[in-house]
This record gives sequence, structure tokens and C-alpha cells, in this order.
Amino acid sequence: MQLFKWPGQLVLLNILMFMSWRSCRGLNVPDYSSRYQRDPKTVISTNDAGRNPDFYFPADPEADLAESAPEEPPLLRQKYRPATSTPSPRPSAAAAFSYNPKDKNGPSNWNRIDARCGGRYQSPILLNTSSALVVNRKRPLRLAGITNLPDSIRLQNDGHSAKFTYNWRNVERPVLSGGPLKTKYVFEQFHFHWGSNSSVGSEHVLDQQRYPLEIHLVFYNGLYGSFQEASNQVDGIAVVGLFYEIYKHSANEQLNTWTFFLYNVVQPNSEYTISFIDTFPLYEVIGDIEWPYFSYEGSLTTPPCLETVTWIVATKPLLVTEKEMNQFRRLRSATGLMVNNYRPVQKLNNRRVFLY
Ligand SMILES: *[C@@H]1O[C@H](CO)[C@@H](O)[C@H](O)[C@H]1NC(C)=O
Ligand SMILES: *[C@@H]1O[C@H](CO)[C@@H](O)[C@H](O)[C@H]1NC(C)=O
Repeated sequence: MQLFKWPGQLVLLNILMFMSWRSCRGLNVPDYSSRYQRDPKTVISTNDAGRNPDFYFPADPEADLAESAPEEPPLLRQKYRPATSTPSPRPSAAAAFSYNPKDKNGPSNWNRIDARCGGRYQSPILLNTSSALVVNRKRPLRLAGITNLPDSIRLQNDGHSAKFTYNWRNVERPVLSGGPLKTKYVFEQFHFHWGSNSSVGSEHVLDQQRYPLEIHLVFYNGLYGSFQEASNQVDGIAVVGLFYEIYKHSANEQLNTWTFFLYNVVQPNSEYTISFIDTFPLYEVIGDIEWPYFSYEGSLTTPPCLETVTWIVATKPLLVTEKEMNQFRRLRSATGLMVNNYRPVQKLNNRRVFLY
């Protein structure tokens, strides 16, 4: 009997084991207990990565060269409009956008909410395995601190998505590095995009397929002091996207325990604080990051659509049950049920998409 059809099942098993061991705090997860230190006297805060000179490491000249592509990865960033020169939009303007194609603030009119949404390097896009440029000599993508627990998690229904923002005090934030990234990127928040039924929902489309749910883990470049500061810089943001597919063997299981918190933020512009005792590390959300992934230069998928994002989109989906999807579909926006909160795919223009 074939026990594991794909590595994701091992990840799932890992998560389940992790959850069952949780009361013992990480017996099966290496490096976990050493991170789990709540005494502020014994933990040195390194949250302020921006001031740490070690935070920049020089690019490896051997790395990132796609053997199938004769040239170096494109210097598309140089063509970017200098986003720094444009003022940040008023929050009220960004809050006005809608996903309804018939709405005057619908996706095709987002460029009226913020002109940058009409740019040439927008996200999401269609991802095709056959046309991606394969990167053969690659640096591994690393996510350090994946088992670190935050002090609390702020869960928000911001009217467009369900967003989990981690609040760190004495523990290091998770840091993403390697792969296409030249510097270290600090974890900020994750949020989701989903559909009214399970044939739609994801923002990226992988080999013509849309998935019912897509998670975006947002990181900012540690060279800058905060997400806000970084978001206007050409190399400011990295977003890791993962798809979910429906776990068919049981509709009612709770595979992702954290979806349980969603009922607290059904109303638009509501929020809920997940206290320390209930917090969960990123490991419990995405498992190990050992999947092949696409990478390309794109944008935030909501206004102001800043073209400062290095996208990393996993090819292996995670699992979600219909019960969990329905917990997302019960959330409300200002205009009704919060469903189909995904932006239509954008033109690729001159960009190249790499497969790591
Ligand atoms: C992916 O394939 C679709 C359909 O064949 C095509 O329209 C699209 O341009 C392709 N995208 C990329 C990034 O190659
Ligand atoms: C799923 O929802 C989409 C978007 O609303 C709709 O176009 C499609 O027909 C629905 N599919 C099914 C099977 O209900």
C-alpha cells in the first residue's frame, strides 16, 4: 500500500502529530523548546532587524542562474516607477474597493482608486509549469523561526479578508531568506482569498486550475524598519502564497485548528485577539517549506497595488475541509457575504516567471 502519495501528506501528518504533542510543547519539532522562552530576562529582542548589519548578505553569484535561460534573471525592478515618490493612499480610499465586477469600485476600476493598480507588474497572474524558467542552481529557501510563538495574534475582518497579524515582544519574528531573495524578510501577517464555492477562490491560477483558498504570508525586507516603510521600496516585500485543496475523505474534520477563530470576526471591521495560550506558530499553518515554487516580480493584489512584491507561490497545495471553507464563507463584508475576494489575473507583460 502506498502510504504517502505526495510530501504534503507527510506535512499533514507532521501537523497532526505536532498538534497532538502540543501540550508537551514541541517534543517532535526540532529547535522548538529552545525558542520557547517566555522569560524576558533571558531573551534578547532582535525584533528591530533593520538596525542589524548582519541582516544583509551579499548575493551569491552562483545562485539564481537558470540554466535554461542564457541571461541573468531580468532586472525588471529597474523599470519600475519609483514607488517611493508617490504618497501613500488615504486609508479610506483603499477601503472603498470591491471585488464585484459590476461595482463602480470593482477590480477593473481599481486604477481609479489608486493609479498604481493599472501598472505593468501587477498580481495575481497565471502560472504555468511548462512555460516557467527552471532555476537549476538555487539557494534553498529558508524560513527561520517557524515554530516561534508570538505573544498574541490579532485577527481582523478588514472588510476584504481575514487577516492574522502576529504580535511579537520577546521572541524573534520568523525570517524568510534564500531562494530568489537577496536579503532577509521579516514576517508580518497572513491573510486569505477564497470563493463562494470550491471551484473558485485562489488568486493565482496554477496550470489553468483555481483552488478554493489561497493564503498569503506577507514579509517585509529587514533592511527597512517596518512593513509600512518597506512597502514603498522596490525590494520591500516578499509574499509566500500557498493554495489549499479540498480534503475529500472527510468534510467535517478540523485540519487547520486556527480556522476555529474565524467565527469571532464575522462582522466587517471587527477584530479579535488570540491570547498567548491559544497562539500557534507558522509551522502549524504551513508546515515545512520544502515544496517547489514559482517566483516572479509583482504587486500587492489589493489597492494600492504597490509593485514591490517578490512573489513565491508554492506548487503543492495544503489541505482544507469543506467545514473549514464554510467558516470562511460565513464572514461578512460591508456589502454582504465575504466570498470571491480574489482579484482577476493580470497581464504578464514582459515579466519572466521562474520555477525553483
Ligand atoms: C499560461 O497559459 C495560459 C493559457 O495557455 C496563457 O494565456 C498564459 O499567458 C500563460 N502564462 C504564462 C505566465 O506563461
Ligand atoms: C462557483 O462560483 C462561481 C463564482 O461565483 C460561479 O461562476 C460558478 O458557477 C460556481 N460554480 C458552481 C459549481 O456552483
